[in-house]
Amino acid sequence: MQLTVSHVVALAVSALSMGTSGIFAAPASQGSKGGIPYVNKHDTVPASQLSSAADPNTANKNVSSGYQPQSGGFTKSPTYATFSAFDQASIELATHQEYIELDLFNYGLAKFSDAEWDQYGIDAENRHLIRQMAQQEIGHATVLSNMLGKTAPKACTYKYDFQDVPGFIDFCQKLTKWGESGVYGFLNLLDNHAVGQILLQSITTEARQQFIFRQFEGLFPMPEWFETGIPQSWAWTLLQKWIVSCPDDNVPIAWEIYPELRIDNNPDAIAAGQAAGGASISNNVTALSYEGKEVLFSWDSPGKTEGPYKQKTVTHTSGYPKYAAFVSQYNVTYSPLYDIDSDKRTAKARQPGGQVLSVGPEIINSTSFIALTDSQTHYTPANLSLINQHVVAGPAVYQSG
Ligand SMILES: *[C@@H]1O[C@H](CO)[C@@H](O)[C@H](O)[C@H]1NC(C)=O
Ligand SMILES: *[C@@H]1O[C@H](CO)[C@@H](O)[C@H](O)[C@H]1NC(C)=O
Ligand SMILES: *[C@@H]1O[C@H](CO)[C@@H](O)[C@H](O)[C@H]1NC(C)=O
Ligand SMILES: *[C@@H]1O[C@H](CO)[C@@H](O)[C@H](O)[C@H]1NC(C)=O
Ligand SMILES: *[C@@H]1O[C@H](CO)[C@@H](O)[C@H](O)[C@H]1NC(C)=O
Repeated sequence: MQLTVSHVVALAVSALSMGTSGIFAAPASQGSKGGIPYVNKHDTVPASQLSSAADPNTANKNVSSGYQPQSGGFTKSPTYATFSAFDQASIELATHQEYIELDLFNYGLAKFSDAEWDQYGIDAENRHLIRQMAQQEIGHATVLSNMLGKTAPKACTYKYDFQDVPGFIDFCQKLTKWGESGVYGFLNLLDNHAVGQILLQSITTEARQQFIFRQFEGLFPMPEWFETGIPQSWAWTLLQKWIVSCPDDNVPIAWEIYPELRIDNNPDAIAAGQAAGGASISNNVTALSYEGKEVLFSWDSPGKTEGPYKQKTVTHTSGYPKYAAFVSQYNVTYSPLYDIDSDKRTAKARQPGGQVLSVGPEIINSTSFIALTDSQTHYTPANLSLINQHVVAGPAVYQSG
C-alpha cells in the first residue's frame, strides 16, 4: 500500500492523542479507522469507570484557570512495599530475573579472555558497557528486594550452556527479552502502583540492555514497533531452567512451569549476525524466518520435576495441542499444527503472516515467543494471562528476526 506522508502523520497524531490521555474526547469513528486497535468509543466509557469520576465528555474542556486533572490512582504519600499476593509473587519473579542477570553478565566477563572478546568485535569499551549492565542489576535486585522485605529471595546458583562469546551474547539477548516481556505482562496489573513505578523505571533499563545485546550480536536492533508482554508463568518457565538451586529459606515461586517446548529448526541468530558483519549499531539484517516457514516442534509431557523449587510441570488442558500461538509485538497469532505425533510429542506449523497495524511491519520479526495451545482463543495485551488455561507446552523463544 502506498501511503502519503500526510496519511502517516495523521495516523501518528491520532495514535499519540489517544496514547497520552485515555479520556480525550475522540471522534467515535476513530476506533475503527486507520487500523488503530483497542480504542473503544470514548463517549461509552462511564464516568464511574474513571477512578477520579470525572465525566469523560467534559475532560480537558475545563478552561478554568488553576484546574489540573488528577489520576484516581494518585497517592500523595506512596509506600513502596508490595501489599498483595499478586504484587508479592510478581516482584519475587522479577527479583529472580535480576539476580540471574547480575550473575550472567559477570560470569561472561570473567569467562572469556580479552582476545576472545576482541575476536568478535566486542572491544574494551563494549565490555565496559556489559560491566555497567551488571552493576545496574545490583541496583535492580536491591530495590525489588526492598519492596519484598524480609522474605525477598536471595541469589541462587545458575548454569549456562554457551561456550563462546557469540553464544554468551545470544543467550543474554534472549534472557533479557523474556525478563523484559515477563514484566510488561504484569506491570500495569500491580495493585500497588508505586511499586509499579519503580519497577517500570528499572525495566526500561533492562529493555536498553536487550537492545544492546541484539546490536552486539549483529542483528537489527529493533524490527518491532511494540515490545511484547507475557504472563509470569511464561517468564518463569523460561527462566527456571537455568537456575540450579536456591537457598533453603527462599520462598518458592508461585508461578507455574509448563512442559518444555523446543523449536527444532529455530533460526540461527548468531550465524545471521556474523554474516551481517558482527557487532554494530545497526546491521540491515532482514527477518530470519518468513510467513509460511515450516516450524518444527517437540515438547515434554507434564509432570516432570523442574526448577530450583522442585515444581511439577503442569498443563490445564488434556495435553493434546492443536495450535502454535505465535506471540509477538502485541498480537497472538495462531497457526494450526499438523503432522502431530502425540506419542513422540512432535508437530509442525507454518509461520503466520500479518501486521499489527496496516502501516506497520510484519508482526513476527524479532525475538518472539511460541507456545502450543489447545484453542485459538482471542486475547488482547491486558488479558493474555488467560491463555495459561490453554497452554499444552512452552513458551519457547522463537528467533524470527
Ligand atoms: C473544572 O475546574 C474546577 C476548578 O477550577 C473544578 O472545581 C471542577 O471540578 C472542574 N470540572 C470538571 C468537569 O472537571
Ligand atoms: C524484518 O525487520 C527488518 C528490520 O526492520 C526489515 O528490514 C525487514 O524487512 C523485516 N522483514 C519482514 C519480513 O518483515
Ligand atoms: C535494508 O533491507 C531492506 C530489505 O529488508 C531493503 O529494502 C533496504 O534497501 C536495505 N537498506 C540498506 C541501506 O541496505
Ligand atoms: C494484531 O492485533 C491488532 C489489534 O487487535 C489487529 O488489528 C490486527 O489485525 C492483528 N493482526 C493479526 C495478523 O492478527
Ligand atoms: C480478551 O479481551 C478481548 C477484548 O479486549 C476480548 O475480545 C476477548 O474475548 C478476551 N478474551 C477472553 C478469553 O476473555
